[in-house]
Amino acid sequence: MQSLHRIAVLAGDGIGPEVTAEAVKVLKAIEEVSGPAFRFQYGLIGGCAVDQTASPLPAETIAICNNASAVLLGAVGGPQWDNKRPELRPEQGLLQIRQRLGLYVNLRPAKVIDSLANMSALKPDRVRGTDILIVRELMGGIYFGNPRGIFAKNGERLGVNTEIYREHEVERVAHRAFQLARLRRNKVTSVDKANVLESSRLWREVVTRLGRSYPDVELKHLYVDNCAMQLIDKPTSFDVVLTTNMFGDILSDEAAMLTGSIGLLPSASLGEHSALYEPIHGSAPDIAGRNRANPLAAIASAALMLRYSLHMEDAASAIEQAIERILKRGVRTAELPGKARPSSTTRMGDLVAQTAEKILKSMRPKKK
Ligand code: IPM
Ligand code: MG
Repeated sequence: MQSLHRIAVLAGDGIGPEVTAEAVKVLKAIEEVSGPAFRFQYGLIGGCAVDQTASPLPAETIAICNNASAVLLGAVGGPQWDNKRPELRPEQGLLQIRQRLGLYVNLRPAKVIDSLANMSALKPDRVRGTDILIVRELMGGIYFGNPRGIFAKNGERLGVNTEIYREHEVERVAHRAFQLARLRRNKVTSVDKANVLESSRLWREVVTRLGRSYPDVELKHLYVDNCAMQLIDKPTSFDVVLTTNMFGDILSDEAAMLTGSIGLLPSASLGEHSALYEPIHGSAPDIAGRNRANPLAAIASAALMLRYSLHMEDAASAIEQAIERILKRGVRTAELPGKARPSSTTRMGDLVAQTAEKILKSMRPKKK
C-alpha cells in the first residue's frame, strides 16, 4: 500500500471547524477513488487554543505540523479574545506558525468565475475574465521587523514598527513569482513604494535583477497606490502580482472583492519544507455554528494542497471542476445572491464531495 500523507488539520475558531470538516469530507471522497491516501491529525490554534492551553499556538500543534506533509487551517479569532494581551491574541497563532514552518510565500488567487461575475462589487463586464495570483511575502517586512513596541519618550508614548527586507528574502519570493508566472500568462507585476521607502527601493532593485533570468516573463513595477487603483480600473490586465507582506495583505483583500465573494477564495502559504492551506476569509463569528457558512474556500484550499504539496493534480482539478459545476447549476450558500433556497454548509460539502468523486472517476481509465 502507498504510504499515507499526514495532514495536520487546525480548524481554529468561529466557522473554521465547520468549513474544515467539509474540506476533510471532500478529501475522504477523493480516497474513494484513489484508495487510502491521507491521515488526518487534529491540533488547536487561535482562540480555542488560548482557552484550552493558554497559548494561541501550543507546542503540540507545532509538533503535529512539523510531522505533516501539509497543514489545513480553518480560521482564527473572535470578539471574545479581542481584549487579550497581544501575545494571547488568536492572530498570534497564525503569525507564529508562518514563522515556525518557514512559510515565506503566500499565494492568493483571485479568479472571477464566469457564472458569478454579477456578484462582483464592480460591473460584471469590467471583471469578467479576471484571473490574478497575488504572491505575498509572508515572513518579513513590517510585520516582523525590529525595533517594535510602544515606548515612552519625552513624556508621551510612541508606537514603533520597522520595515526591513533583506536581499535573500526578496530573492526567494521573487523566484517563486517568476516560476508561477511561467505556468500562467508570463507576466509579473511587482508592487512597492520605491518612490518613498528604502526597503522598497531594494525590493525593486532585486526583483529587476532576478527578472533578467526570466526573459520570457514580462516584468512591470507599480507603486502600491497606483496598483490599488489599477486593480479596480483594469483588473483583467494583471496576472501575477508580487509584493511585500503588508501591501499583499491589503491588496489581496481588494482583489478578493473583485470576485464578489471572499467565501470562495483559497490560499496557500509555502516554504522549503512545509505548506499551509487556508481560506482567505476569517472566522465569521456571527454565523458560526449555524450551518450557514460557505465551505468552498476551505474545500478549494484542500485542492491547492493536493496540487502543491501532494502532487495529486487530477484530484485537485476534479475538486475545482466540481466547485465550478455546482456554482454554475445555481447552488448557493446563504451569503451569495441566488434564486434558489440557499444550501447549508454540510449540503454544499456533500455536493462537492459527490461531484468531485464522479469527475475523478471519469478521469481514470476504466478497470477491466
Ligand atoms: C491575513 C490576515 C492576517 C494577516 C492576520 C489575521 C494576522 O489578515 O492572513 O490576511 O494580516 O496576515
Ligand atoms: Mg488580511
